[in-house]
Amino acid sequence: MSILVAGGAGYIGSHVCKMLNQKGFDIVVYDNLSHGYKEFAKWGEFIPGDISDEKLLENIFKYYNIEAVMHFCAYIEVGESVINPQKYYINNVSNTITLLKVMLKNNVNKFIFSSTAAVYGMPERIPIKEDDPKNPINPYGRSKWMVEQILEDYDKSYGLKSIRFRYFNAAGADEDAEIGEAHNPETHLIPLILDAALGIREDIKIFGTNYDTKDGTCIRDFIHVNDLADAHIKGLEYLLDGGETDYFNLGSGEGYSVREVIETVKRVTKKDFKVVETERRPGDPPYLIADSEKARSKLNWSPKYSLEEIIKTALKWHIKLRGKS
Ligand SMILES: NC(=O)c1ccc[n+]([C@@H]2O[C@H](COP(=O)([O-])OP(=O)(O)OC[C@H]3O[C@@H](n4cnc5c(N)ncnc54)[C@H](O)[C@@H]3O)[C@@H](O)[C@H]2O)c1
Repeated sequence: MSILVAGGAGYIGSHVCKMLNQKGFDIVVYDNLSHGYKEFAKWGEFIPGDISDEKLLENIFKYYNIEAVMHFCAYIEVGESVINPQKYYINNVSNTITLLKVMLKNNVNKFIFSSTAAVYGMPERIPIKEDDPKNPINPYGRSKWMVEQILEDYDKSYGLKSIRFRYFNAAGADEDAEIGEAHNPETHLIPLILDAALGIREDIKIFGTNYDTKDGTCIRDFIHVNDLADAHIKGLEYLLDGGETDYFNLGSGEGYSVREVIETVKRVTKKDFKVVETERRPGDPPYLIADSEKARSKLNWSPKYSLEEIIKTALKWHIKLRGKS
């Protein structure tokens, strides 16, 4: 029996694959490499392919005896999703439906889905709990919330059991720096600050310094990618033990301001760099902090990495990454 990891050559999926492998699971990594890297698919069998390719998926399910699916494939850039929503609805929603179709056809009913804090939109209270209102404010967030609702329907009608994990800000890298964050284009805060620290970018921009927060900049909840991976293992074990469909926030529960993150990078790297304060970006909530009590109590999950450790692991990987380019 194997676990199919769709999108396993990407940032988060590859870290989950490393941990699955360490735990002794057989894995098949399936990825079209549109945003992933063949070198990240080091664990298990790698099959290049697109989740829209029903025939290829069919063959994989038959040949490898797939027991459960972890689904990381998606386009993930919020700004691009506003400019070109079709791209997002086709890949994130329609292609996911194809993957689910092949699962149902092959009687595979365990599914772990990468959702996002973006499903909450502008949160009404902090920390955010799972049952707080879902008002995504861009096509990316809406595509994820649509899939979440589809998964509820598929459980009721077909008995497909799923776990939806709503990640907050995924960050950090593998401690051995074998894999790490390498989005192209990179839009995430920590790798962008690290580029400034390494002199690859001229400066780092802060979008908005007049929010009603402790230092005027946005507050975010950073969660180490290995803590996310650990939650996926626990979620998988829960489903394999016959667990019911459920959904969980995954965040550290700690909020750090953009300024605090920049200062921590300066301290860890011992580098100074230019910080430019600019206008707010539309759609950035002042606070995004998870209440992850449900994952802690129900899955026995507890995140282990501090912000400093997140930045240290990210730095080690980033030096290697930028050394190559
Ligand atoms: N990075 C974050 O902070 C964050 C936060 C919340 C949610 N998420 C979600 O987590 C998941 C993984 O994010 P990531 O940061 O690892 O992104 P990523 O781009 O590094 O990984 C996604 C992988 O999916 C592959 N892929 C995309 N479409 C595909 C398709 N049609 N067929 C086959 N492969 C395809 C890409 O090549 C890539 O390797 C995504 O679903 C994302 O929406 C990420």
